[in-house]
Amino acid sequence: MTKQILVLPGDGIGKEIIAEAVKILAVLCDDFALDVEITEGVIGGAAYDAYSHPYPEETKTQARIADAILLGSVGGYEYDKLPRDLRPERGLLGIRADLGLFSNLRPAILNTELADASSLKPEVVAGLDIMIVRELTGGIYFGEPRGIRELESGEKQGYNTLIYKESEIERIAHSAFKIAMKRDKRLCSVDKANVLEVMELWHEVVERVAKEYPEVELSHMYVDNAAMQLVKDPKQFDVMVTGNMFGDILSDAAAMLTGSIGMLPSASLDINGKGMYEPIHGSAPDIAGKNIANPLATIMSVSMLLRYSLDEEALAQKIDAAVEAVLKNGLRTQDIATDGDHVVSTSAMGDAVAIALRDLK
Ligand code: IPM
Ligand code: MG
Repeated sequence: MTKQILVLPGDGIGKEIIAEAVKILAVLCDDFALDVEITEGVIGGAAYDAYSHPYPEETKTQARIADAILLGSVGGYEYDKLPRDLRPERGLLGIRADLGLFSNLRPAILNTELADASSLKPEVVAGLDIMIVRELTGGIYFGEPRGIRELESGEKQGYNTLIYKESEIERIAHSAFKIAMKRDKRLCSVDKANVLEVMELWHEVVERVAKEYPEVELSHMYVDNAAMQLVKDPKQFDVMVTGNMFGDILSDAAAMLTGSIGMLPSASLDINGKGMYEPIHGSAPDIAGKNIANPLATIMSVSMLLRYSLDEEALAQKIDAAVEAVLKNGLRTQDIATDGDHVVSTSAMGDAVAIALRDLK
């Protein structure tokens, strides 16, 4: 049956990088018999421009019927002055919450060709392969009450609430243990149980869930130490599981170990495996429209989409192999280039991956 893919380019470099990912999908349809129908919608600032809302009803309807969603990025300077509820970021948080995409998988894999692009010594990062599992629809991002209030003294006070129910911790823990079972069977749960009660509960629930996965070696680490260990000795980790905000921060740090945030895809899954796929980098308004952004994270997001939502592992591997081949040939976008590299544009990188993919037929 034809699967429906909703494409949401969003803002900034989103449009350029999504165009390259769509090229790759087209090759898969033409040459590899992939049976998908692609529809396009708006989110973030682009949606605000069209419908005065960052996640409008029109997009909601499209998103709910799609089998999988491919998203570019959201955000732009021109929207910074809007009321918080109408800002592009709210569109992203809105679709994650609306579709119940609680399990966010953020792999940090160092492509061997790019060992020199990392700011860490090659021996520290060579062969790096970490999976960060970030809880995505709870925690301080969504906790109530929240706001900015005026105190009696006339001084303003901002406040947010970091809350997790047992059921929310349980389901993300199951998600992480299942992934660990398919990898090296080592899971590190990251919390701040030495200070926060909510994290004490997190620790306790993860321990409880662990009993169902006796083969997985579970460890716990406080988030500050985890940040340090990621930079000091990242290869000690296999799978890491953590809450929404800690995961946001640690996944950016882990991304940089690989040399560029422009290389890393992500998947956000609901309880049935329906997913949204997006590069973990932002909309980079400073380089938008210049045809210099790195499209590889988005192209590899297509690979994750095929793997996790469409059950097309063989095609996912073909995309990964095509990206590998292009990097091996020395092609680099500016963000991953070192001296002497052949620097190419966004569209040229997409074309090169498309050609490499066709060659794998
Ligand atoms: C991410 C981003 C988002 C987040 C922003 C854009 C709302 O940083 O996907 O990591 O904080 O979740
Ligand atoms: Mg982030």
